[in-house]
Amino acid sequence: MKDPAALRTLHENRFHAVPQIFAAPGRVNLIGEHTDYAEGFVMPAAIDFATLTAISPRDDGQVVLYAENFGEERSFPANALPTSPTSHWSDYPLGVLSILAGEGYAIPAFSLTLWGDVPLGAGLSSSAAVEVATAIAVTGLLGVTIPGPQLALLCQRAENEFVGANCGIMDQFISANGAVDHALLLDCRDLSYTLAPIPEEMALVIANTMVKHAITGGEYGSRRAEVEEACRILATHRPEIKFLRDATVADLEAWGHEIPPDALKRARHVITENQRTVDAAKALMQGDLPTLGRLMHEAHISYSKDFEASCVEADTMVELAQDLPGLIGARLTGGGFGGCTVNVVEKAHATEFAASLASRYKQATGIDPQIFICHASAGAHRIS
Ligand code: GLA
Repeated sequence: MKDPAALRTLHENRFHAVPQIFAAPGRVNLIGEHTDYAEGFVMPAAIDFATLTAISPRDDGQVVLYAENFGEERSFPANALPTSPTSHWSDYPLGVLSILAGEGYAIPAFSLTLWGDVPLGAGLSSSAAVEVATAIAVTGLLGVTIPGPQLALLCQRAENEFVGANCGIMDQFISANGAVDHALLLDCRDLSYTLAPIPEEMALVIANTMVKHAITGGEYGSRRAEVEEACRILATHRPEIKFLRDATVADLEAWGHEIPPDALKRARHVITENQRTVDAAKALMQGDLPTLGRLMHEAHISYSKDFEASCVEADTMVELAQDLPGLIGARLTGGGFGGCTVNVVEKAHATEFAASLASRYKQATGIDPQIFICHASAGAHRIS
């Protein structure tokens, strides 16, 4: 349905009120994985899959949430909203309301229709899109404009503190601050960022392995714990190491023997990934696509071998892309353990690349993948 007019009609028919409409995109990360919570660098782009929200005021004191994707409605008194999650889609909008309320915003009564086409559990940040689309709608209804970086932080807190997923800032940040035809190099330490234009001849081909990933699952958390453990050990030698962002490969060479082997590998991924991400942004900005592609490939090997966050299917998808005409670089994107690969491809070859990759993957695994040729899109915005 990605049609704001259709969403408007749906909302009007259901709630008999004229809504304001907003959109917030999902994202694909070009490079910089599990570096955000180590205060490092990431370089995602917003994509043309999004959550759309329609919101209108009510006069009965209720907050009514309707998710078109699930055909399901939930109502709550605006002055007594839930304070804990129930493992339901409504956790994401309710988490945002809970954080906004905690920040002193009086949550009004309203009807909110949500509709989205970000594939669920595919590592393309469907939950961040829901959070940011809710936040921009509710603040829009309140007549308040919160700058993108702050909006992202509020939504990250919704996910950390309400939903209970210990994610970093990347997904909410790019959903709130993405720009058409640009990737965004984010310094997760101070949230300063640079937009890197995506050259006209470069296409983003996203290939869904169809293996579901979940960041609420144990692996994201256990990897994060290992990263933090390695950081603590290095900090006993160099107290200025507050996060792995502050550590170097030389630190690992000097004190790596004190770090448990798995944590050492995770740390090596994060430290080298930070450097790769900065270098990849530079390459993209200079139009040096071969260097970008090489760094993406190195990032995949590091993510798979050192961080051990890949899976057979994702490694297969990356491998099968290597000799296809037009490939610049391929890697597993997002939180890991399934989801999608991102392929930077010469635009002239994109359609054929997508078809060949799909048939190779089906032949190798027996799984029909979804392959999307995406564009870097705008961050969260009102649709007038
Ligand atoms: C998930 C999290 C992000 C980030 C990535 C891994 O998408 O939400 O904060 O940690 O995994 O790079």
